[in-house]
Amino acid sequence: MENASRPFVHINCASSLDGRIALPGGRRIVLSSPWDKRRVHLLRQRYGAVLVGVGTVLSDDPKLHVNPHHTGGSTRPLTRVILDSSLRTPPGARLFSYPGEVLIYCAPEAEGAEEELRRAGARLTEVPRGEGGVDLKAVLEDLRRRGVEALLVEGGSRVISSFLKEHLFDLLTIFVSPVVIGSQEAPSLCILPSPTEPAELHLEGAEIVEGGVLLTLRP
Ligand SMILES: NC(=O)c1ccc[n+]([C@@H]2O[C@H](COP(=O)([O-])OP(=O)(O)OC[C@H]3O[C@@H](n4cnc5c(N)ncnc54)[C@H](OP(=O)(O)O)[C@@H]3O)[C@@H](O)[C@H]2O)c1
Repeated sequence: MENASRPFVHINCASSLDGRIALPGGRRIVLSSPWDKRRVHLLRQRYGAVLVGVGTVLSDDPKLHVNPHHTGGSTRPLTRVILDSSLRTPPGARLFSYPGEVLIYCAPEAEGAEEELRRAGARLTEVPRGEGGVDLKAVLEDLRRRGVEALLVEGGSRVISSFLKEHLFDLLTIFVSPVVIGSQEAPSLCILPSPTEPAELHLEGAEIVEGGVLLTLRP
């Protein structure tokens, strides 16, 4: 553990050659190769906790589980964390059908489907508002108090941007697929505050793998 007040934070995503992580309008595209999917499921299995923004839940309806097909038969319940200021997570989202707790962090006095979400099995926690939604430091400190030691942040664009902007990560891996999406309307890997504030990262590795290139970066 590198930081006792928050979990180890590993951001992971799959990107096109032009830095896009979805199609125009946020429509989902599979950028990961089978090799990369397996890597992601093994990471989920190892860390035991995964975080996404409500934007990803609404656009992709991800299962957010550990698929034993990718982990040689073993699986474990996964803690799913959703950043969702106004409780827009649909109580019928697919992730509720898979094992593991669902922790939703919302803003104080959020007026969403509170009761339905609790009935679906979510645990709701109010945290102060922060830039971009809820306060990330408060979320991470609460997760640490709940015993989460390592967290896989899987997106999407706004959530990754917030973690990068606030320097709240320890490791970033990007699977780059040899695909050009070629549209400014497609969500990008990260939206930084302005072009005059570039975020420089330390490139630790670049590996040609099945179906693409895996970049490993540190803050
Ligand atoms: N290729 C990949 O690896 C990958 C992985 C995941 C997703 N995606 C794609 O990413 C796209 C979704 O990205 P997105 O930017 O629309 O949604 P997102 O990053 O998943 O969620 C963003 C939303 O989360 C909430 N939020 C709460 N606190 C936040 C904070 N501190 N910082 C940022 N957001 C916070 C905000 O909504 P409220 O204000 O309502 O709280 C915000 O609008 C989809 O197209 C999906 O397919 C790609």
